[in-house]
Amino acid sequence: MKALIVGASGQVGRYLYGEFAARMPVAGTYCTHPEEGLRHLDITDRAECEAVVYEERPTHVLLPAAATHMDWCEAHRERCYAVNVEGVRHLCAPLKTIGSWLVLFSTDHVFGESGRALREDDPVSPLSVYAKSKVLAEEIVRSELPNSHIIIRTSWVYGHERRGKNFVLTLRRRLAAGEDILVADDQSGSPTYAHDLARGACALVLHGAQGTYHVVGPEWMTRHQLALQVCAAFGLDSSAVRPVPSEALRQHAPRPKRCRLDTGKFHAAVSCHLCTTWQGLRQMREEEVEAKAAQDSLDTDIPVGNAPVG
Ligand SMILES: NC(=O)c1ccc[n+]([C@@H]2O[C@H](COP(=O)([O-])OP(=O)(O)OC[C@H]3O[C@@H](n4cnc5c(N)ncnc54)[C@H](OP(=O)(O)O)[C@@H]3O)[C@@H](O)[C@H]2O)c1
Repeated sequence: MKALIVGASGQVGRYLYGEFAARMPVAGTYCTHPEEGLRHLDITDRAECEAVVYEERPTHVLLPAAATHMDWCEAHRERCYAVNVEGVRHLCAPLKTIGSWLVLFSTDHVFGESGRALREDDPVSPLSVYAKSKVLAEEIVRSELPNSHIIIRTSWVYGHERRGKNFVLTLRRRLAAGEDILVADDQSGSPTYAHDLARGACALVLHGAQGTYHVVGPEWMTRHQLALQVCAAFGLDSSAVRPVPSEALRQHAPRPKRCRLDTGKFHAAVSCHLCTTWQGLRQMREEEVEAKAAQDSLDTDIPVGNAPVG
């Protein structure tokens, strides 16, 4: 087995790279944020997709790469579709030729409002440009690689991320800067720790699973409740976090306020425990403390200037 992580420079891709590299040979790509050890791939370029796939010859391609900023996608429909729809089509063609599997990352937003937990075969009803592009991507994968695909729908992913743009890291940065923060108290979802998502994807691949799976954390909460947990986990004062209705945020892309995924199919297929939000946030914090301690000890080991001799 060999994995190719397309979008290894992103939040989920980084965790996927670590998880798969512990089990099999791995190659990874970046698009606009170069990283040592990763090779360039822009999936809007069909020829580059073919070149990378034919050179790497992976048995499994993991595809977290996407235009992910919902409000940007709403204002840039064509560019969103070029990546999220045509990019997926470009990759499917060479994978079909070499008989490789594709693992596509999709979203809970393929669904609209719902009062109950939705299953993989419930009808989709996307509200935003981003969500519609993901529905089309799913359809392409099912039709081009009918017997060699996994589609993983997830939501509210958090974890370490080089660019610090996810909800948890943005909230912490803005609180540290002394800003007041408005957070929706009427949008609910399931926070999912990126490390768990990567473990879940790896478990599905190793199990030989096929088809669509919902992989999200075990809880369902409002954005405001998530923000309060972040404050508690990282020892931050939550008084600047203000709950507001979604309308007050003037978000460009429409979002379902209540969207919940049923994960029964995933848990029946593989044995993979996903942690609670509190556990995931504490794990993030512990990793930061460990990384800082490792850096500090590295700094004290480095000799500064020339030590006197004799
Ligand atoms: N984050 C969430 O809360 C969430 C929720 C539901 C579903 N998902 C899905 O999960 C997946 C991963 O999300 P994420 O949070 O890891 O996103 P992310 O941090 O924004 O990473 C996106 C990745 O896509 C790459 N990329 C963008 N345009 C590309 C192109 N034209 N060609 C090749 N690569 C390109 C980026 O590379 P560069 O940075 O190098 O340009 C980056 O590696 C996405 O498919 C997303 O739709 C995420």
